[in-house]
Amino acid sequence: MKNLILIGFMGAGKTTVGRLLAKEKGMHFADTDDRIVSEQGKSIPDIFSSYGEPYFRDLETDVLKRMQEDTRNTVISVGGGMPVREENRALLRSLGCVIYLTATKRTILCRVRNDGSRPMLNGEDLAEKVEQLMNARERFYKQAAHIYIRTDGRTIHQVVQIIDQETRRFMTEPRQPEG
Ligand code: S3P
Repeated sequence: MKNLILIGFMGAGKTTVGRLLAKEKGMHFADTDDRIVSEQGKSIPDIFSSYGEPYFRDLETDVLKRMQEDTRNTVISVGGGMPVREENRALLRSLGCVIYLTATKRTILCRVRNDGSRPMLNGEDLAEKVEQLMNARERFYKQAAHIYIRTDGRTIHQVVQIIDQETRRFMTEPRQPEG
């Protein structure tokens, strides 16, 4: 069976939704950030501060490439910046059905406030940072996604249920060749 891949901004709920979705569907669960952290033996903030963002982005691409070989029947949650690279968008789509979890800026701000584990959000003005990054990334999420799911005002269970309904057809139908 194909994989289900969750993309979206930090705080969109990718990991929380992904874990429950995998459990409900009897699929495996994988998180690219977790894989990077366990392989590097360092936290995400430590990787950013020791080696810088470009190094982390290369690790992300490397994980996606290896997932093409070793990941099946899995709900995969990826870091919020993963779809920014064009190469990653193609890799994500070839892994399975790509689901974009959307949320408004207001919702995202509430969810990421008081969280020091995200180096991309470090700095003076969190609202400004979120606004600027969300605007810059929106088109990349849309380009990568097969399906969009709104999370605002919905419980995790509701989001999981909607994903299940929306992806059933995708998971069973043979895929059309590209181009
Ligand atoms: C990042 C998102 C984080 C993590 C890293 C960079 C980003 O993952 O990969 O801090 O650039 O948006 P989450 O989206 O799971 O927070």
